Amino acid sequence: MRPRHIAVTVALVAALSGFAPTPHPRGAGAAGAGRADRLVDSLLARMTPAEKLGQLNLISVDSDRASPAQLDSVRKGLVGGFLNLYGADATRAAQLVAVNESRLRIPLLFGFDVIHGYRTIFPIPLAEASSFDSAAVEATARGAAREASAAGVNWTFAPMVDIARDPRWGRIAEGSGEDPYLGSLLAAARVRGFQGNDLGAPDAVMATAKHFAAYGAAEGGRDYNTVDVSERTLREIYLPPFHAAVSAGVFSVMSAFDDLDGVPATANHWLLTDVLRKEWGFGGFVVSDWTSIEELEKHGIAGTRAQAGRLALEAGVDMDMVSDIYVHDLPALVERHAIPMSEVDAAVRRVLRAKVALGLFTDPYRGASAGRERATILSPEMRALARHIADESVVLLRNDSGVLPLARSAHTIAVIGPLAADGEDALGPWHTLGRGEDVVTPLAGIRERAGAGTEVLYARGCGIADADTSGFAEALAAARRADVSVLVLGEAQDMSGEAASRSSLDLPGAQERLLEEVTAAGKPVVLVVMSGRPLAIAWAAEHVPAVVQAWFLGVEAGHALADVLFGDVAPSGKLPVTIPRTVGQVPIYYDHMNTGRPGSPTDHYTSKYLDLPLGPLYPFGYGLSYTQFAYGTPRLARSVIGPRDTLAVDVDVTNTGARAGTEVAQLYVHDSVATVTRPVRQLVAFARVLIPAGGTQRVRFRVPATHLGFYDRRMRLVVEPGIYRLFAGGSSAGGAETTFEVRGGR
Ligand code: GLC
Repeated sequence: MRPRHIAVTVALVAALSGFAPTPHPRGAGAAGAGRADRLVDSLLARMTPAEKLGQLNLISVDSDRASPAQLDSVRKGLVGGFLNLYGADATRAAQLVAVNESRLRIPLLFGFDVIHGYRTIFPIPLAEASSFDSAAVEATARGAAREASAAGVNWTFAPMVDIARDPRWGRIAEGSGEDPYLGSLLAAARVRGFQGNDLGAPDAVMATAKHFAAYGAAEGGRDYNTVDVSERTLREIYLPPFHAAVSAGVFSVMSAFDDLDGVPATANHWLLTDVLRKEWGFGGFVVSDWTSIEELEKHGIAGTRAQAGRLALEAGVDMDMVSDIYVHDLPALVERHAIPMSEVDAAVRRVLRAKVALGLFTDPYRGASAGRERATILSPEMRALARHIADESVVLLRNDSGVLPLARSAHTIAVIGPLAADGEDALGPWHTLGRGEDVVTPLAGIRERAGAGTEVLYARGCGIADADTSGFAEALAAARRADVSVLVLGEAQDMSGEAASRSSLDLPGAQERLLEEVTAAGKPVVLVVMSGRPLAIAWAAEHVPAVVQAWFLGVEAGHALADVLFGDVAPSGKLPVTIPRTVGQVPIYYDHMNTGRPGSPTDHYTSKYLDLPLGPLYPFGYGLSYTQFAYGTPRLARSVIGPRDTLAVDVDVTNTGARAGTEVAQLYVHDSVATVTRPVRQLVAFARVLIPAGGTQRVRFRVPATHLGFYDRRMRLVVEPGIYRLFAGGSSAGGAETTFEVRGGR
């Protein structure tokens, strides 16, 4: 990658992602930074080379306590932190050794994958993204931090901010979907939620923006696979959420497993130092992902472990997770000056500054205690938080002939499917300490809500992934007895997440057949899809009158589903990812280029598939309510603006239905003619608005012209003059349209 014009890039990249780069991660104001630096300098001056490399060593604990050997390494000053050690007592025991029995008494970091909850498991991040509700997303991160910090965890390896355009990739479940604007807003929201306003507060945890970078662009959607994207795609699609996290003050970044344009991210100096530190001003530290340093040998760019360690440290990786290379293989290189001590000092300084910001030198235990754990975990407030965002995360994809909300006349409801009564799967991947018994299952939620006068039947029908159809008869009998059937189908929680790519997007096992046979029984059917990725549910979209995308909704899954299915809550979720008709369409995403021959059903020689209709099954941003909304033509304060102006747009949204509803009003732009090809649509703003039946809400959008910026042919970030089309609507397709002009400047 070539160096960039830093002045231009920083100024405009900051504006593009809507945040100014911060020299220090938040929580280290001028005076604080002075004191912190003095403390860090004094420690550095006393540390031996072995103790310095020890601070860069992050060890995984594979039981409920650190082992005697691990604690002995702590005593020798050879451990900077543990991961997977949690619980107030267990972390306190390890911390006591560090601050009482090591020579320099430097406290430990305790890192853990608190991705969407610690014990109160919230909807998976992809589900939360469907809410398009930054405040709600920030609140669940705050809640997760409260639980985790009560248990002694002071560092979470979240938010995962990887943009994903390929649903075969299992980790699409952990992020915020395909759009860089939505992904940037939610990345910043989660960093604020985890770190709070003061990282030194006892209920704050240090956040980690991961996996840097472009991990979601793995070829074939196959986890850990090669990533080969242009610098323009990297900077416009995959980097913005990381920049937003840095601008929000994230204290750590995790380097990715993938090789990016031939250079593994974990050894990529351009990425980890030139972009992250020099262009963006990131002041925190970089941690490797699991054995990604050791894996540089497998990538074939290091011949020995020591060489792998040297490449990573020199590229900008400060902390070595699990490889044990920094602490065991680098001392010899430092000894013979093959690695300058200044490089080691720079890394140690960044790790120590994070420990100062966390307040660990003031209170290494941060008030964690078994009592605080008990009072915080799974509290009613936490469950309320989980239910609220789960309510907003459900996406209604189809509702023909008013099957939903479930009519009060439905005296018998059949709940069918392998995910209907399963707690563990509702938690989704990366559910940390979540337990199946904590979950209100879909069946339990429907039973609780249906009330005494309604009989709720249950039949599992089939397994999740096996071909056994022996349960069909019981399911069909229930469906025939019922007034309406609710089929809860989809994936097991371990069919998405890490190392869980799928070559198919179909409902696994015999579930599609079960759906077809129950539908053929002739009674109304509601399909609830629980999955960690969009599934190609083309048959259901055509034959099942009501279809709901529920993702994995966490501990309050059943309550939230019942809230929506019975109409106590009008669905407001919108798709953060495109749903393809079939896996053959992948990659498919809304902000694609027009090409020279955009697909046409009538013109043969255009970009399409012979065996598929044009376009996805459901587009990004799509989601129905129990009412309908109409959009007036967007009105502009000024239809001509300069490149540093802000576009002011008013859109009247009318609820034309018979009941109140919340709409996520979205604003998209298309740069009609530019010096490089531009996406047919780009999301630039959205707003959740609650509108009463028959009411009209004026939605005011403010779009800085810098949000129209892109990298030109010379890779300069520019806002080009010209005519732009503007669309306002309830999804990335259709909408009310107008145009505006950017005049002057670049
Ligand atoms: C895993 C994941 C990463 C996680 C880390 C620690 O391999 O890639 O997201 O934070 O290891 O568990």
